[in-house]
Amino acid sequence: MGRSLFQKLVLIYLTITVLLTAAASYGLSRYFARYFVEQKQQQLLAQSAKINELTADYRAGRISGGELKQALEAIGYATNARVYVLNVRGEELSALEARIPAGLAKRDLLHEIERILQGETIVGSKRSLRSLDTPVVFIGTPLETGGKVHGVILLLAPLTAVEEPLSAVNRVLVRSALLIVVIALAVVFAVSRRITRPIAAMGQAAERVAAGDYSQEVAVQGSDEIAQLARSFNTMQERLRETERMRRELIADISHELRTPLTTIRGFVQAVLDGVIRPAEQPRYLGRVLEETTRVTRLVSDLLELARIQAKAVRLETDTVNIPALLEEVADSFRLDAADKGVSLKTVVEPGAAVRADRNRLKQVLLNLVHNAVRYTPPGGTVSLSVTSDSGGIRFSVADTGSGVPETELSRIFEKFHRLDRSRDSGTGGTGLGLAIAKQLVILHGGAIAARNRTDGPGLAVSFRLPQPPTATSQ
Ligand SMILES: Nc1ncnc2c1ncn2[C@@H]1O[C@H](COP(=O)(O)OP(=O)(O)OP(=O)(O)O)[C@@H](O)[C@H]1O
Ligand SMILES: [Mg+2]
Repeated sequence: MGRSLFQKLVLIYLTITVLLTAAASYGLSRYFARYFVEQKQQQLLAQSAKINELTADYRAGRISGGELKQALEAIGYATNARVYVLNVRGEELSALEARIPAGLAKRDLLHEIERILQGETIVGSKRSLRSLDTPVVFIGTPLETGGKVHGVILLLAPLTAVEEPLSAVNRVLVRSALLIVVIALAVVFAVSRRITRPIAAMGQAAERVAAGDYSQEVAVQGSDEIAQLARSFNTMQERLRETERMRRELIADISHELRTPLTTIRGFVQAVLDGVIRPAEQPRYLGRVLEETTRVTRLVSDLLELARIQAKAVRLETDTVNIPALLEEVADSFRLDAADKGVSLKTVVEPGAAVRADRNRLKQVLLNLVHNAVRYTPPGGTVSLSVTSDSGGIRFSVADTGSGVPETELSRIFEKFHRLDRSRDSGTGGTGLGLAIAKQLVILHGGAIAARNRTDGPGLAVSFRLPQPPTATSQ
C-alpha cells in the first residue's frame, strides 16, 4: 500500500515550505552578514579619515605627540580595532618592514601596503591573517597631506565584533522560520483535509453503491472540481436509484399482472387434465387458454417496451415524415375492424404536411390512440384523425364519439395499468399500457400529450404536440 493522498499532500506541502523557509532564512542571514561587515568597513573608513587629519595636525604642530597617541588609542577603543600608523616617507620597503609592529604578520600585508603607498585604499573583509588568531575586517588607506603619501593607516577589527549582532539576527531568523513551519503545518493539515475529505467520502459512497445502497448523498461544498465530481457522483447515484426503482416496479408489475391470466390458464388446463371438462367443451376452454397466453405475451412485450423507453434505451431515428401517407397507413390498419363495428374513420390533414419524427414510433403512438378510439366508440360513431400545425410544432389529435372519460381520470389514463373498467377491458384484451407507452414516446420526441372530453358532444379527444425546428414547420 502506498501513502494516502492526505499524507502525500502534507509531505509535499511541508517539504516545499521547509525548503523555501530554509532558503529564505539562509539568504537573509547572508545578507545581514554582508551588511554588518560593510557597516564595520564604513565605520573604519571614517575613522581612518580622522586619523589622517589628526596626523596632519600633529605634523603642523597643532597637537602634541602625546595627544596624537591618546587620540589614536581612543579611536582604537571606540571601534574595537587595532590602529597602525606607519610613516614610510622616503624609506625603502625593507625599512618599512621593520616598522610594522610585532604581532602583525609582515608578509600578510606586505603586498597591500605597497598598493596603499601608491595611493590606493584597500577595503578588506574576513581576512584570516596567519599571525592573528581571529579573522579580521581591515581597512588600509594612504597617510597623506596635499596629495603626498607619507605612509599608511591600517585599521584591523576582529570579525567577532560583527559576529555577535549577526548571531542575534540568526537566532531571530531561526525562531521565525520554525514559527512559519509550524503555522504552515497547521494550514497544510487543514487544506489537505479539505481536499481529501470529500474524496474519501466519495470513495466510501462508491463502496456503498457497489454494495447496493444508493441512499446516501455525498455532501457538496463549494464549486471546485472536487465539488463538481461530488455533484456528478450524486447525479449518478440518483440515476442508479431511479433505475433500481424502475426495475423493482417492473418486477412488481409483471408478477402482479401475470398472476391473474396465469391462474386462469392453470385452472383451465388442470380442469382439462382432471377430466372435469367434457371433451366436447375442451376446444372452447383451450381457446380461452390460447387467448390468455396471447395476452400475457403482449403484456410482457409491452412492459419491456415501456421499461426500455423509460430507461431511454430507445434511440429515435428522426426523419422527415410525410403525414398524409402515415395517417392513411394508420387508418388502413383499422379499416376492417371499424367497418365491422360500424364506426367510420376520417382523416383531416393538409396535403404535403410533414413532421420531423421517428416514423415507426410516431405510427406506434397513433395506432395506440386510434385503437382505443375505435374500441371505445359505439356503432354508428366516428373516429377522426386530424393534424394541424402552429408556429414551432405539429399537433396530432384523435377524437371519437364514445363515452369519454370522467374529468378526474383524464390524466390518470396515461398511467400504466390504469383502466377505467377492468372487467370490461380484460374481455377486450386491453392491458392498460397503450397510453403509457404513447406518452413516453411523445416525451421522447420532446412533446406533450393530453386527453380531454369533447365539448361539441360526447367523446374523447387525445392530442399531442411535437415541437419542430423552424425549418420543418414552415413546410
Ligand atoms: N378513446 C377512449 N375513450 C374512452 N376511454 C378511453 C379511451 N382511450 C383510453 N381510455 C381509457 O383509458 C384506459 C387506458 O388506456 P390504454 O390505451 O392505456 O390501455 P388499454 O387500451 O386498456 O390497453 P392496451 O392499450 O394496453 O391494449 C383504458 O383502459 C380506457 O379505460
Ligand atoms: Mg389502448
